[in-house]
Amino acid sequence: MTVLRPITEAEYVAWLEIVIPAYAKDKVSSGQWPKDSALDSARKDYAELLPNGKDTDKNHIFTVLSPEGFPVGTLWFVEQERANSHIAYVYDIYVKPEHRRQGHASRAFQALEVEVTRLGLSGVALHVFGHNLAAQALYTKLGYVATNINMFKPVPGAT
Ligand SMILES: CC(C)(COP(=O)(O)OP(=O)(O)OC[C@H]1O[C@@H](n2cnc3c(N)ncnc32)[C@H](O)[C@@H]1OP(=O)(O)O)[C@@H](O)C(=O)NCCC(=O)NCCS
Repeated sequence: MTVLRPITEAEYVAWLEIVIPAYAKDKVSSGQWPKDSALDSARKDYAELLPNGKDTDKNHIFTVLSPEGFPVGTLWFVEQERANSHIAYVYDIYVKPEHRRQGHASRAFQALEVEVTRLGLSGVALHVFGHNLAAQALYTKLGYVATNINMFKPVPGAT
């Protein structure tokens, strides 16, 4: 049963319209970007990360399929070097809201491990925003452990 199938051009275009605003919102929520320029910054980041769109070298963007074979989400990873070994860095996992909590992301990550082995990579790394408790719960359940934690506390009265 296929869980990850290469994304089509039409799916890629539709996916960008979802993930770019979501990424901008996360950057604002985490205090990294000002709201007024966040969407432009997010578009710029995506253009730099994916200069050749879905066919950008070392990048793998998949449509996640349900057990019945219909599209329920997207998984994007890039091959990277980390401490002298080659790994998969997951930039995005997205499951459509109406299909969440049905195990699709978990199945996608299991299929990712098969893909990682096939490509001769040694592991999977990813980033998660501090406010994204759903994703953190997912990754913890899948066996991921935190390697870096950034923290912030606003100081009342400071400029
Ligand atoms: C995070 C996301 C990918 C999870 O996808 P999903 O298909 O619903 O995940 P699964 O059904 O495989 O969930 C597996 C486990 O993760 C945890 N989990 C997932 N969503 C959760 C939520 N909203 N709250 C708490 N735990 C959650 C649970 O432990 C869950 O197991 P359970 O349902 O048996 O309790 C999905 O919510 C999503 O697309 N969110 C928006 C995009 C996003 O935040 N991506 C992550 C970027 S780092």
